Amino acid sequence: MSIDYPEKFVAELDGKYEGWVLEELVSEKEIRTRVKELGREITNHYKDKTPILIAVLNGSFIFIADLIREMDIECEVDFIKLSSYMNETKSSGTVRLVKDISANITDRDVIVIEDIVDSGLTIKFLKNRMEGSGPTSVAFVTLLHKEEVSKIDFDLDYVGFKIPNKFVVGYGLDLDQKYRKLPAIYTVKESDQNGRS
Ligand code: IMP
Repeated sequence: MSIDYPEKFVAELDGKYEGWVLEELVSEKEIRTRVKELGREITNHYKDKTPILIAVLNGSFIFIADLIREMDIECEVDFIKLSSYMNETKSSGTVRLVKDISANITDRDVIVIEDIVDSGLTIKFLKNRMEGSGPTSVAFVTLLHKEEVSKIDFDLDYVGFKIPNKFVVGYGLDLDQKYRKLPAIYTVKESDQNGRS
């Protein structure tokens, strides 16, 4: 059965988010175009190298699947899982390593693939974790960056889209494990009365 998602107000959220709505922020087409561009830029930068892509679970699984197919170089893939959100729209303030990488990244070119950089806590944790293993280089790719609120003292190498400080879902990103399969990026917002904004 196919699900027909309209462009706006694709869903009204239930449970504790009753009456909230989703509104499209980055379209499926914009994502496809930008992922292609990122794939091309990474390919040019890593020509003749075999980098290892480390995707941050769970949110970046769709992004890495699309990105790797836009890259025209040999590369390896591994995954790391961290937790800083406690099933809410706010960070818990600490990062916990839930699943570490299994690959040896010493003397390797590492590319960390993030879905979103919000406060920057997670990416700082990742930088320390990666650099602690003596790689040749570490680069950071994020599909989304909440630039206004992130507090990082290093540059992100590849950013898909800078977005405002709003909670977003879709294209791998979730709210309480829901909405990951939406094809675009949507803000989650409180609607006015009658459930419509
Ligand atoms: P940070 O440590 O605050 O930068 O948050 C990074 C992680 O929090 C991301 O990898 C996401 O898993 C989650 N996160 C942050 N902002 C959002 C959002 O707007 N929607 C869904 N998940 C988010």
